[in-house]
Amino acid sequence: MTREQADRRAAELRPLIARHDRLYYVEAAPEISDREYDALYHELLDIEREFPGLVVPDSPTQRVGGEPLDAFVARRHAVPMMSLDNTYERREIELFHQYVARQVAERSGRPAGTVDIEYVVEPKIDGVSISLRYEDGELAYALTRGNGREGDDVTANLRTVRAVPLRLAASPPPAVFEARGEVYMNRDDFARLNRQRQAAGESEFANARNATAGSLKLLDPREVAKRPLRALFYAQGEVQGLTTGSQAELLRRLREFGFPTAAWTRTVRGPEAVWAAIEELARRRGEFPYDIDGAVIKVNDFALRGHIAPTAKAPGWAKAFKYAAEQAQTVLSAITVQVGRTGILTPVAELEPVFLAGSTISRATLHNEDEIRRKDIRVGDTVTIEKAGEVIPAVVGVVPERRPAGTRPFDLMEHVGGRCPSCGGPVRRDPQFVAWRCENLHCPAQYTRRLQYLAARNGLDIEAIGGVVAERLVETGLVKEPLDVFTLGLGPVAALNLGTPEEPRVLGERNARRLLDAVARARTLPLARWLHAIGIPNIGQATAEKVAALHTDLDHLAESDLLNDMRRLRRLQEEADELGRQLRGAGDPAARAPLLDALRQSRDAITALGTALETRGLARRKGTKGGRLGVEIPEYLTEFGPDVLDSLAEFFASPEGEAVRRRLRELGIHPVTPVAESATSTTSGPLAGKTVVLTGTLQRYTREAAREALMRLGAKVTDSVSSKTDFVIAGENAGSKLDKARELGVRVLTEEEFVAMAGGLPAPPAGRVPRQGMLF
Ligand code: IVH
Repeated sequence: MTREQADRRAAELRPLIARHDRLYYVEAAPEISDREYDALYHELLDIEREFPGLVVPDSPTQRVGGEPLDAFVARRHAVPMMSLDNTYERREIELFHQYVARQVAERSGRPAGTVDIEYVVEPKIDGVSISLRYEDGELAYALTRGNGREGDDVTANLRTVRAVPLRLAASPPPAVFEARGEVYMNRDDFARLNRQRQAAGESEFANARNATAGSLKLLDPREVAKRPLRALFYAQGEVQGLTTGSQAELLRRLREFGFPTAAWTRTVRGPEAVWAAIEELARRRGEFPYDIDGAVIKVNDFALRGHIAPTAKAPGWAKAFKYAAEQAQTVLSAITVQVGRTGILTPVAELEPVFLAGSTISRATLHNEDEIRRKDIRVGDTVTIEKAGEVIPAVVGVVPERRPAGTRPFDLMEHVGGRCPSCGGPVRRDPQFVAWRCENLHCPAQYTRRLQYLAARNGLDIEAIGGVVAERLVETGLVKEPLDVFTLGLGPVAALNLGTPEEPRVLGERNARRLLDAVARARTLPLARWLHAIGIPNIGQATAEKVAALHTDLDHLAESDLLNDMRRLRRLQEEADELGRQLRGAGDPAARAPLLDALRQSRDAITALGTALETRGLARRKGTKGGRLGVEIPEYLTEFGPDVLDSLAEFFASPEGEAVRRRLRELGIHPVTPVAESATSTTSGPLAGKTVVLTGTLQRYTREAAREALMRLGAKVTDSVSSKTDFVIAGENAGSKLDKARELGVRVLTEEEFVAMAGGLPAPPAGRVPRQGMLF
C-alpha cells in the first residue's frame, strides 16, 4: 500500500469506527458484530503502524492509552462544578417548587400563583462526575470535579472511554463546549471485572462506584483502557459560540454532538407531575443496566434558572431526590472504643458481617454514648444499620423482640474501666461536647490519628500511611508528632513489622520507597492542603481552600491583615447589630440617647474600616449617599464565620502554631498557594524569583486577583516593602509603602508599565473574581 492509499483508507476508517462507537455507546443500537468492529479497528491500527506519520490525535486507535503519568495536574474549572442539595421526602419537592416559583415570581414581577414551572426529571447516576472541554470541536481536556473549583486533569484516562467523543459531531463546532456528566460502570461489567480480579488474586472493589473512581485515578491510561468505563452526560459548563435555551434542548444537543444521555428522562409541569416521574423512575430503577441512587429535578428553562439564587455549593434550580438509605439487620457482637485525633472516645459497633448497598459491612459508627443510651443499644442485640451514599454506615436502632436474655445497658466508662483504652491515661467528660476525652497529650492513639489525618487523601495524600502503618510508626517511636514523617529513613521504614512478633511481616523496601516517595511529593503540596492537614479546629477542606486562596503562604497567613480586618469587621458588625436590637427595645428617650451615640460610633468605625480596605484595593467606593461614604465589600471578606476566624487567629498565636511553622521551616517545607490554571510553579514564569509589593488601588484587578496573577507569573507577593523587594506596583492613592519604596530606591511601576513589562497579566481566573456584596 502506498502512503497515499493508506492515507485515503485511514481517512475512511476513522469516521466509520467513530460511527460504530456512537451506535454502540450512544444509541445502544449496534449495526455490526464485535468481530466486524475489531476487524475495522485492526485495519486502521495496521495502517498507522506502517505509516506512523498518519496518526492523528482523534484517531480511535489513540484511545488505548498514552504513557503513564507521574501524577495528575490540577486545573481550574472555567465554570465551577457545583453539587446538588439532597432531599429524601415528597414534601420537600413541594417546598422546592414553591421556592422556585416564589423567586421566579419576585424577579419577573408576576404573581406567584401564575407562574407555571416546567421541570426535567432525570436519573441520578451513581458514578463519578466529569467535565470534558472541547475547543473548536476537539477534546481539549477532561477534569474530575475535585473541589468544584479545580479538578484533576484526567484527559489521558478519559480518552480511553469509548463513550467519550474525541471530537464533536458538529460542523462548524462551537468555539468552546464543556460537556458534564458521569462516568460509571454497568452492573454486569462491574461483576465481570471483579470476577477477573478475584481470579488474578487482586482485591475486589466494594461497588461499581468505587471501581469507577479507582479506575479514573490510575496513572497508566493503558490500564484504564482495560476497565469497562462508560459515561452519560447531563449538563454543560463553559460554552462559547452556541446558545441553548433549556435542559431538554441541551440533552438533544448533547446527543447530536455524540454524547450518550440517559435513556429515560421526563419533562413535566408542576410538583405533582414531578412526583409522578420520581415514582415511575423508582419503579423502573431495576431496568437500568447501571445503578442509580435517586432522581435529579431541574428547572427546564435556562432563562428562569437565572432568577433562582444558589446556595453555597448547589444551584437553586436543581434538587436531588435520593431514594431512602438502604437498611439491613445484623448482630452487634461487640462495642470497641476508639480514641480520635483530639482525644475524644468514640464507640464503634463490631458487627456480624452483612451485605448492604453493594458492600460488606462489619463495623458501623455508634456516634457517642448518649446516642447508645437513647436508643438503648446493647451488645448481643440485633440492630438495624443504614448506609446512605457516601456516608459511613451507622447503627440506627435495635430490634427489641430479638434481644437475647442477659444483656446490659451500655456504659462507656465501665466499658473502658475509667481509663483511655489506648494509653491507660485519665479521661474526662468534655463539657462542650457529649463526649469523653483522653487528656494525655502524648497518647499514642492520638498521635496515630493525627498522623492518619495528616496523611489522608484530602490532607497530604500519603496513601501508604493508612491504618496499620501509622499505628506501627507511632508504636515503634519512629513518628511522634505527625511532621516527623519528613525525617523518616528508608532502612527503619522498610524494617517496620506490620505483623506480630511471632509472625512478623515487614513492610519491605519497595513499599518503604513508595511511602517515602509520597512523603517527598507531599512537601510541595499547596497551602490549602497543608492548612487542612495540620488540623486546625474548624478548618475543613473547603474552608482551607478559601483561606489559602487569599494568602500566599503560612507566613502571610500568620500575619494576615486581611484576616484581622475580617475579624474586626465581624466584631464591629455584631456590636452594631446588638446596639440596634437594644435600641429597638428602648422606648425611653433618655435610654435611647447613649445607645444612638454608641451606634453612631460603631457605624463610623465600620465606615472607617471600609475606607481603609478601599485604599488597599479590597473594597470599592460606591458613591456617596446622604452624605455618608458608601463602600462595597466583596463577599469573600465576610464569608468566614467567627469560628473560623478565631480558630485561625488562635492557632497562629499559639505555641503549637509557632511550633508547626518552625518545624516546617526546619524541614525546608514552604507550602504556597498554587499557581492556578497552568500549574507552573513559582520557580518558573517571567517573574520567577522576583518579590513584588502591591499598593494602592489597581484599575483592572481586585487586590487578590492581582496577587494571584502575579503568582502565576512566578513572583512572590509580599505585604511590606524592604530592600529585598524587586518592584512595587503602585495604583491610585498609594500611601506609605510607596514612600518607603522611594526611600529605599526600590523600582516603582505603574499598573500600565507593569502590565506591559510582564507581556500582559493573565486574566483573573474564572470563578475567583469575587462577587461584590453590599455591606453598608
Ligand atoms: S446535574 C449543578 N444531573 O450527582 C448541578 N448531576 O449529588 C450539576 N449526578 O455532582 C449536576 N446524575 O456528579 C446532575 N442527572 C444528573 C446527575 C447528576 C448524577 C451527580 C453529579 C453531581 C452529583 C450531586
